[in-house]
Amino acid sequence: MEALGIDFGGSGIKGAIVDTTTGRLLGERHRIPTPQPASPEKVAETIVQLIRYFNYQGPVGCGFPALINNGTAMTASNIDKGWIGVNAEELFSKVSGMPVYVLNDADAAGIGELRFGAGNGARGVALLLTIGTGIGSALLNDGVLLPSTELGHIEFKGDIAERYCSDAVREREGLSWEKWGKRFDKYLVYMEKLFSPSMFIIGGGVSKKMDQFKHCLTVKAPVLPATLRNQAGIIGAACYAADKEKQKSR
Ligand code: BGC
Repeated sequence: MEALGIDFGGSGIKGAIVDTTTGRLLGERHRIPTPQPASPEKVAETIVQLIRYFNYQGPVGCGFPALINNGTAMTASNIDKGWIGVNAEELFSKVSGMPVYVLNDADAAGIGELRFGAGNGARGVALLLTIGTGIGSALLNDGVLLPSTELGHIEFKGDIAERYCSDAVREREGLSWEKWGKRFDKYLVYMEKLFSPSMFIIGGGVSKKMDQFKHCLTVKAPVLPATLRNQAGIIGAACYAADKEKQKSR
């Protein structure tokens, strides 16, 4: 089945049409700069613009950078606070006239990487962490997602984890890869204690720099860089939409 996958990020809203059985993009990715402020109305307009750009009709999946509960944004750590309490799924579906399904952005990347990327259909527990401005998480067992784990917001070292070892913290505090890597390792060790995953997958910009900090990591499970790069969220969101459509038609 074909579906349009969208990834709502801090600087760009990106989309592509995806063949959800192969995970391949059916054509180019298109990016529109994220409107500022990224209020619900403005973002909804951008989603409509993207759908029109592809001249697309059909199911749409959208990865969203917040805690999502049944389509509603419950938090807004790094996005416009106006989103809290807004049912993004209803809003996007109403303005576009298409069935739009919304899930957390890291959850979308987790689905993408597990089916078609670093996870490659692996069984067992996998924990994907996207490291950027914040830390996003996706926890899957045998490829099945436990949604909205938000492990970047877990209490850690007297604050929340993403304020200890996100990529934004590394930049802001001018940490060397060595120093940041040691911090990140402490967080991974804690995650391993909690979930004993059989693999960690690391997404976000730092995944391209793994050779700089890999030697700092002491967890037992393999730590793999995401392989779908910036397409994981788009592919995963499209798969999520296709799955939801199939469930609906049952
Ligand atoms: C948000 C998560 C999101 C992550 C990555 C965090 O600040 O709370 O919902 O997945 O950033 O965008």
